[in-house]
Amino acid sequence: MTDMTAGRVARKAWGGRFADSPDARLERFNASIGFDARLIREDIRGSVAHARMLGRQAIIGATEAQALEDGLWRVLAEAEAGELELTLADEDVHTGVERRLRELVGPVAGKLHTARSRNDQVATDLRLWAKGALLDLLTGVNALRAALIEVAQDHVETVMPGYTHLQRAQPIVLAHHLLAYDAMLARDADRLRDAYRRADVSPLGSGALAGVTFPIDREATAADLGFAAISANSLDAVADRDFVLDALFACAAIAMHISRLSEEICLWASAEFRFLRLSDAFSTGSSIMPQKKNPDVAELARGKTGRVYGHLMALLTTIKGTPLAYNKDFQEDKEALFDAVDTVLATLDVLPPMLRTATFDTERMTVAAAADFSLATDAADLLARCGVPFREAHEVVGRLVGRCAAEGIEFDDLTDAQWAEIHPVFAEERPPRTARESVDARNVPGGTAPARVRAALDGAAAALAADRDWTEAALADRAARFAPPTPATS
Ligand code: ARG
Repeated sequence: MTDMTAGRVARKAWGGRFADSPDARLERFNASIGFDARLIREDIRGSVAHARMLGRQAIIGATEAQALEDGLWRVLAEAEAGELELTLADEDVHTGVERRLRELVGPVAGKLHTARSRNDQVATDLRLWAKGALLDLLTGVNALRAALIEVAQDHVETVMPGYTHLQRAQPIVLAHHLLAYDAMLARDADRLRDAYRRADVSPLGSGALAGVTFPIDREATAADLGFAAISANSLDAVADRDFVLDALFACAAIAMHISRLSEEICLWASAEFRFLRLSDAFSTGSSIMPQKKNPDVAELARGKTGRVYGHLMALLTTIKGTPLAYNKDFQEDKEALFDAVDTVLATLDVLPPMLRTATFDTERMTVAAAADFSLATDAADLLARCGVPFREAHEVVGRLVGRCAAEGIEFDDLTDAQWAEIHPVFAEERPPRTARESVDARNVPGGTAPARVRAALDGAAAALAADRDWTEAALADRAARFAPPTPATS
């Protein structure tokens, strides 16, 4: 690496005041080029907006601005063709792009950094990148919601045990259970849009920390880049990484929701539950036990949650000790954000097909739904409807459960005389005997009655359609802004 950097002190963006070349160990430790090359599109697009604005404001000449813009698009074309070589000596993507620009357009490249610092530049780049990532995450979350809704459509009448404390509690329908995950993911979509809204502020023009001495037009660069607003305080603008933390928290919440779903899939796929069979295409085997079929996808989805949380904690900790304004500590934001986004996107990619190809053992679920006295609440409710105070009804049915459990029988095994003996109300009327009757009775908004679940499915599908429209419109706007004005040639 030393030979590559020899004699290049002056080529560093900050080389002027340095007499000696940087030590190779500093260079390795300091450089972000190994990971921030991912920001190249955002970096170039941000520079294009800056160059255009410099030209329009006559801070540089109009032809100079055009030369910079043309050169920047050429650098992008090279990068996209895999022809742009960035090295450790480039330090970071910003310096690398400028170095290549100088090779392509000559000394005028030196004018690009007028009225700008890498501090407002990197904040701009990362906000642009985060906005794109948040839209990708929205797309992924919406795809998982679509799969949940689709599977739920087939199971509005499939009864199963509902649990509290992982003990059978009351019957529910499978669609209701799946729609609970849709509800979580709908909140995630909301959180992603919220994170997008806060990332959607342009720091460009804040300079190193205090603003700049040129008559720049911050509103113009913000509008060119598709930012909804400009930042209000130059110090905050270059030192704020809340938008990264917002995105990381949104990722952590998605991972947590998927982890809960995955845990249920692992449980349901076990011989103990046997509610669900994963397709061969989304299962793995054991190298020693020929009979094994493992839910690795769900386990990995659950396991990867740890590293996503880790990135959130890591960056919260990194930021907490930093004085205003920019500090190099902030360079740590990128790998955290990139890996959290990559991890959650990879999970969102594999979960929908795994869900769609799974089959539910609806017979087993139906049998389990009414077992273990899951209809006890319905019996107590019947007494309460007939005027018995609910606490007393609970006591009566509780005793009945105790007695049946001791004798090893179910409610269904009781004779008419025995029912009448338990409570006079039961001489006239029997509590529901099937899980279906039980779920039908829970006919309140948000309840598990199939009629309510059908309405909830319609609501979920409509909410998903609206979220998809919003996401697609934002993605289309982004694609248009990032497209070079003319086919780039190089
Ligand atoms: N690579 C740096 C980062 O990620 C870019 C900004 C450098 N600014 C500076 N003043 N050294 O934060």
